[in-house]
Amino acid sequence: ADSTDTVFAPSNIALCKYWGKRDAELNLPVNSSLSISLAHLGTKTRISVSDQDQVWLNGARLATGDKFARKVIAFIDLFRRDADHRVKVETENNIPTAAGLASSASGFAALMLAVDRFYGLNLEPQVLSAFARMGSGSASRSLYEGFVEWQMGIREDGMDSFALPLDSRWTELRIGLVKVSTGEKAVDSRSGMNRTVETAHLYQSWPLQAAADLERLHQAIAEQDFTRLGETSEQNALSMHATMIASWPPLLYWQPDSVAAMQAIWQARAEGVEVYFTMDAGPNLKLLFTADAEAEVKRRFPGLEVISPFG
Ligand code: DP6
Repeated sequence: ADSTDTVFAPSNIALCKYWGKRDAELNLPVNSSLSISLAHLGTKTRISVSDQDQVWLNGARLATGDKFARKVIAFIDLFRRDADHRVKVETENNIPTAAGLASSASGFAALMLAVDRFYGLNLEPQVLSAFARMGSGSASRSLYEGFVEWQMGIREDGMDSFALPLDSRWTELRIGLVKVSTGEKAVDSRSGMNRTVETAHLYQSWPLQAAADLERLHQAIAEQDFTRLGETSEQNALSMHATMIASWPPLLYWQPDSVAAMQAIWQARAEGVEVYFTMDAGPNLKLLFTADAEAEVKRRFPGLEVISPFG
């Protein structure tokens, strides 16, 4: 085919985080992770034949030297059969930039789906996930809706390191996006996790923490135990941030407003409102709550963007 229909992949938020690689080239993680996909928020991508390689992001053509454009073309190169073949890649994020969410997960997942269509590969979902993983680890999880587990795998070639969807729905679950800052982060996840693995002694305890949290999350999801889900997710995120802070030079992604939001959440809990948070390699918070607390959480966080992951 010389063009594809537009494909879509959702963004995702990890409740048990991926932090640290055992193989940087293949993007193989130190630990398994578990996420929830953000339904309609994500990336749309389309590939078509062109006279020269070009990458478009949200309607604007990127310079050839652009970091993101180079990553996209390098990814296409893995699948290109005919070296003379040039492509136009059009990608659009409907993640409000204002929400300060990373787009690399949905970006590489959508790119992999577009490559699969464009080259007529018809790969199995697990293979699509493993390839998306090579673009960005968290992209392995963005191939699916709902709860998703990325199994770390043990093979050296990484072919058992892919994500699978969990067979559970949780209609009452809500995710709130608290925007603290939308600026480009100082240290991207890739360099951040490498620095942590190399310099933080505290990191030694991370794989154990992650394994235990993964178990707790499975149990919480199976029993629809929201308290367990929230507590586990928040502690997992803070444990990851503890390893970041213990790196050298130190990595502190928080800003004063991030801490203010954490304190507002702890205050809300002290007043009986069940709301928890998780955070990635940036200053923004993602809130976890259920439908019955939505009005109260919105009152405490004006302008909060709320997502219902299960529609
Ligand atoms: C903190 O998937 O962006 O968001 O594999 O190097 O591209 P690379 O890293 P990336 O890391 C995500 C880290 C995280 C936690 C998570 O999403 O699991």
